[in-house]
Amino acid sequence: MAGKIPQRFIDDLIDRLDIVDVVSARIDLRKAGKNHTARCPFHDEKTPSFSVNPDKQFYYCFGCGAGGNALSFVMDYDHLDFPQAVELLAASIGLEVPRDGRPGDDKKNQQRQRLLDALAAADQFYRRQLRQHPQANAAIDYLKQRGLSGEAARDFGIGFAPPGWDNLLATAEANPDRIATLIEAGLVVSNEEENKRYDRFRNRIIFPIRDPRGRTIAFGGRVLGDDKPKYLNSPETPVFHKGRELYGLYETTRHTRNPEHIIVVEGYMDAVALAQQGIHSAVATLGTALSEAHLDKLFRYTAEVIFCFDGDEAGRKAAARALETCLPAMRDGRGCRFLFLPEGEDPDSLVRAIGAESFRQLVTEATPLSTHLFESLSTKLDLSLPDDRAKLYQLAAPLINRLPHGVFRTLMLNQLAEKTGLANDALALHIEGNTTQSGDASPPPVPDTSPYDYPEYNAEPDAETNDYASYHEAQHAPEASNRKTVKLTPVQLLIGMLTHQPALSEAINDDDIKLLETSEEPDVSLLLKVLKLLAEHPEYTLTRLLGYWRGIHGVEQGEYLSVIANNDLVTGCQSDESRQALTQDIVTGLRRKARSELPVEAQISALAEKPQLDEDDRRQALTLWQTLAHSRADESLINQIKQILKK
Ligand code: UTP
Ligand code: MN
Repeated sequence: MAGKIPQRFIDDLIDRLDIVDVVSARIDLRKAGKNHTARCPFHDEKTPSFSVNPDKQFYYCFGCGAGGNALSFVMDYDHLDFPQAVELLAASIGLEVPRDGRPGDDKKNQQRQRLLDALAAADQFYRRQLRQHPQANAAIDYLKQRGLSGEAARDFGIGFAPPGWDNLLATAEANPDRIATLIEAGLVVSNEEENKRYDRFRNRIIFPIRDPRGRTIAFGGRVLGDDKPKYLNSPETPVFHKGRELYGLYETTRHTRNPEHIIVVEGYMDAVALAQQGIHSAVATLGTALSEAHLDKLFRYTAEVIFCFDGDEAGRKAAARALETCLPAMRDGRGCRFLFLPEGEDPDSLVRAIGAESFRQLVTEATPLSTHLFESLSTKLDLSLPDDRAKLYQLAAPLINRLPHGVFRTLMLNQLAEKTGLANDALALHIEGNTTQSGDASPPPVPDTSPYDYPEYNAEPDAETNDYASYHEAQHAPEASNRKTVKLTPVQLLIGMLTHQPALSEAINDDDIKLLETSEEPDVSLLLKVLKLLAEHPEYTLTRLLGYWRGIHGVEQGEYLSVIANNDLVTGCQSDESRQALTQDIVTGLRRKARSELPVEAQISALAEKPQLDEDDRRQALTLWQTLAHSRADESLINQIKQILKK
């Protein structure tokens, strides 16, 4: 772990940055008087209420209350943690982030620097060999025969490790420290038993692997012919972790700082060949599967990643794995698409065969993640058959469940609902998913600079209601205070709807209340209290309700309720009809969730007793089936469900 970043560095960094540059690199800003404005990137809006003030070097949204400096903007917009945001901004103006020394840190930094120096020297050495070594002709002929241009070779820093055991080793001039560094950097192999040392890369074309700042951190080496292994890579070292680095990322971002998309390919030669053809946006994994770390890295530079693996069995497997890996990373604003190549082709061979224009068109037409997901799951299914639709549901639900909450997830649920015939289910399902993830159940944070006029928080939370206590905690948890996007749990959303339109409580019947009483959802007790009050006073307006709440339950509880009532999600619902529809969906969702928490046998017998299944029942049965199949439950239970589904 790196040490702490010194405060003076952070101050200095903020001084040197211009928030207008930082923000406008990410969203379109329009100058309006002294300030710059835009539609707020942190909430959905039609008219711009987001403004950046260059004098004060901060931004503020009058709509959602998001506000802060360049650093907090990058943290929220790029979804980075604090050190990552500092690193990114520092790199953007060419600064290295210093770390306050913890014992050992200095030593580690020195070691890293030594390795980087040795790698840089080796990089120069290999390039020089390609130009000067007496046997470089074979390498040059090989590259020519593969159609590589001198320009591409130069851009990617391609070099040559000559034949022989000690070409690089000899550059250390028998200096033990330098030899030790070459060994640590993985460039010289040491065989202790035989007391032998020799160059790792011999008679190979050398591809330097650079970090996003352009520093060489490792090499890949290709044989000139058909020998095995075809490629040899540097081993893991303190400066090189295969599972995190991407070949060609530096070259891509050097060409365009924030490319519209980045294409992920399998091979070194694929990335180089595409760049040579003018497609400067390809990166290659280094013989490893695509990792989440890879994706996080890519999405710092682009909003869309396009997977383009070889048209063979291995490529298709890699694509299937990439699909799984990318699901949890699909926050709103990010996209993935899949480009499948004809059998036997890789991007290098294809771009040579069809040319850059046609290749670009294939990229433009690459299959969106959503389509690919459903297509790949439906290949062996006939969706006109109910059984197959049920299967699709079983296959897709766990994948969709891995998507983070947001618009994309909702759209996927809608599509799933459509394809399986479980129409109108999406929202409720979405809500169920919501309540199962504890991270999302946190109550609404109050913006630091509130657009509403909230009184101060200072009293102790009411000990009787845990909800409030946890809310208060979340309030002060650093994570919550950094988060500007305000979310509500379904229960909170329901409370909000009721505060605006008491008559909606009719949607909740006595059975629902019984179910709710046993529920462990946060804020259920608040909901029940609100319902009770509204039953007694259906005439209460929002203001009276809030006033009453404050009077009876105290200031903190009053504010808590008013935060919910004033939440964007609640106030955004403006017509009686839309509030009614949403309330209905929430109640249905909560009902389902409560039902699904009953013991399996009870659920099955309740379903079995029904003369007919409605949409809801069918869904419940399918979910049960999925859960039971997953836990390899008793075959007879599953058979009962199949019987039920035939109704
Ligand atoms: P490929 O064999 O598809 O690479 O392996 P390529 O770039 O298309 O190879 P050529 O030069 O055109 O024949 C894909 C990637 O897998 C890793 C390398 O990173 C390679 O680029 N690999 C492959 C190895 O690490 N070792 C190997 O022996 C082969
Ligand atoms: Mn190839």
